[in-house]
Amino acid sequence: MSPRIQLLLALAFAFCIKRIISHLLDPLRLVPGPFLARFSRLWYLFSSLNGRGHETISKLHEKYVGPVVRLSPADYSIADLDVAKQIYGPRTAYEKSSWYSAFRSPEKEYTIFTDQNNKHYSQVRRKYANAFSLSNVTQYEGSLNKCLGLLCQRFTEIANEKSECDLSQWCRFFAFDSICQMSIGDLKVMELGQDQHGIISMAQTSTVYGNVVGRIPEWHHWIWKLLPADKSEKGAIAWIRETMAKKSRGEYNSATTTFTDVWLQQEEKMSREDIFLGIAASVGGGSDTSYVTIVNIIYLLGKHPEVLEKLQVDIDEAVKREGLREGLISYETARRLPYLQAVIKESMRIIPVVAVQPPRFVPKGGDTLAGHYFREGLTVGVNPWSTRMNAKYFGDDAHIFRPERWLGEGEEVKRNEYYHMPFSIGPRSCIGRHLAIFEITKAIAQLVYLFSFHVTVPEGELRYRSYSLVQPDVLRCRIELRRQ
Ligand code: HEM
Repeated sequence: MSPRIQLLLALAFAFCIKRIISHLLDPLRLVPGPFLARFSRLWYLFSSLNGRGHETISKLHEKYVGPVVRLSPADYSIADLDVAKQIYGPRTAYEKSSWYSAFRSPEKEYTIFTDQNNKHYSQVRRKYANAFSLSNVTQYEGSLNKCLGLLCQRFTEIANEKSECDLSQWCRFFAFDSICQMSIGDLKVMELGQDQHGIISMAQTSTVYGNVVGRIPEWHHWIWKLLPADKSEKGAIAWIRETMAKKSRGEYNSATTTFTDVWLQQEEKMSREDIFLGIAASVGGGSDTSYVTIVNIIYLLGKHPEVLEKLQVDIDEAVKREGLREGLISYETARRLPYLQAVIKESMRIIPVVAVQPPRFVPKGGDTLAGHYFREGLTVGVNPWSTRMNAKYFGDDAHIFRPERWLGEGEEVKRNEYYHMPFSIGPRSCIGRHLAIFEITKAIAQLVYLFSFHVTVPEGELRYRSYSLVQPDVLRCRIELRRQ
C-alpha cells in the first residue's frame, strides 16, 4: 500500500474515532434516529435527494418512541406542537438556521425569507408588511379576477372538449400568473400555456437546490460556483427587474394595483433593490404554496363527495343571495362562508404544504425541549407532516378529513385553532398568509361553483414529491360544467 493511501486511511480512521467519541460524549446520544445520523450529516443530506423527505421524517417519528428524533449530530426533528410554540412563537430567541442561506445567491443580499438575524429582520419586515395586511389584500382582487377568469375559461374549454387535463399543471400556472399579476402586474403563463421567462423552473430549481445544499450550508458557496449558470434564472430575474424598472419610470402601468405600486409609494423607506427582493420573495413564497393547496383541496373534495355537496349548496345559495361581481364570486361573498373556510383549514391540516421542519438554531444558553436539553447552536424544528394526524392535537379522528371540526366555538374548535399553524407562527410566520387565504378562498369558491372535477389517481392516493414543499404528482382530471 502506498504511503499516500496509508495516510488517507489513517486520517479517515482518526475522523471516525473522533466522531464516535463525540457521539459517546453527547448528552443527546440516547435520542433515537438512523444509525448513520449519529456520526454524520450524510444520512440527512441523502434523505433530501429522493423527494420523499416528508414521508421519511413522519416514518422516523412513527418508528421511534418519543417526540424527538436525530437527523444528524446537529439536527433534530421534534413532533410536538407545544414545542413548535416554544421554537417559533411570538417572543422567540430562536433564529433561522444556515439552511436558509442556500436559498439565495452567495453574492446577493438577504431576502425576506433568507434573513437569519431576528433583530435586523424585524425592521425589514415592517417595510414590506403593509402590502400584505388584511385590509390591503382586497385591492389586488382585480388582478386575481383576471387570472381566475382565464383559468375558468381554460377549464370550460377542457370541459367542452371532454378531454382530460393535468389539474396540478393548470393550478400551478394559475398561481404563478396570480402572484406575478398581483406583485408586478404581468405574466401570461396560462395564456401561453408554457413557462414564460422560465419563472416556474427557476422557482423549482431554487427550492430543490436550497433544500438539499442547505443541509451542508458551508459548501453552498463552492457548489454554487461550480454549477453551470442557470439560464432560466437569468431570464426570470432579468424580466422582473425590467418590468419593475418600467413601472418605476411610469412606462408600464397595469390596470390594477400591485405590491410594486404600494412599495413605490414609500420610496423614502425602500430602495429599488428592496422592492426587487420583495417581489422575488413573494413569487418564491406565494406561488407553489398556493397552487399545491388549491390542488389538495380539489383532490380532497373529490374523495369526499358529501363534503363537496355541502360546500356546493353553501356556495350556490350565497351566489343566489349576493350575485356575482364582474362575473365572479367576490371575496366579500366567499370569505363569509364558514364551511368553505373550514374546508380550507382542514385540507391544510391533513396535507400540509411545508414538507420540512423549518430549522432554527437553539439560542444562547441552550434550551429544554420535550424534556431534552439542547445546547446552543444545534438545529431543531417541527415538521407539519409529523404532527398533522396526532390525536393529542386534533382529536381521536385526526386521521379523517372532517371540516366540521373547525365549525362553531366549542372547546374542540378552540384546541384545533390553537394547534393550527400552516403559516407558522411568531416573527417569522408567513408574511403572505392573508394574501394566500384571499387567493385560495376566491379560487375554490369559483371553481366549485362552476365545475365538477373528476380526478383519477392511479394508486388511490395522490403521491407527493417534496423538496421543502410537497408537490403533487400529475393529477389527471376530467372537468364537467355545473352551469353554462
Ligand atoms: C397556502 C399558501 C402558503 C403557505 C401554506 C405558506 C406557509 C408559510 C410558512 C409555513 C412560512 C414559514 C417558513 C419558515 O419558517 O421557513 C412562510 C413564510 C413566508 N411566506 Fe408563506 N405560505 C403561503 C403563501 C404565501 C404567499 C401568498 C406569499 C406571498 C407574499 C408568501 C410569502 C412568504 C414569505 C416572504 C415568507 C418568509 C417570511 C419570513 O421569513 O419571515 N407565502 N410561509
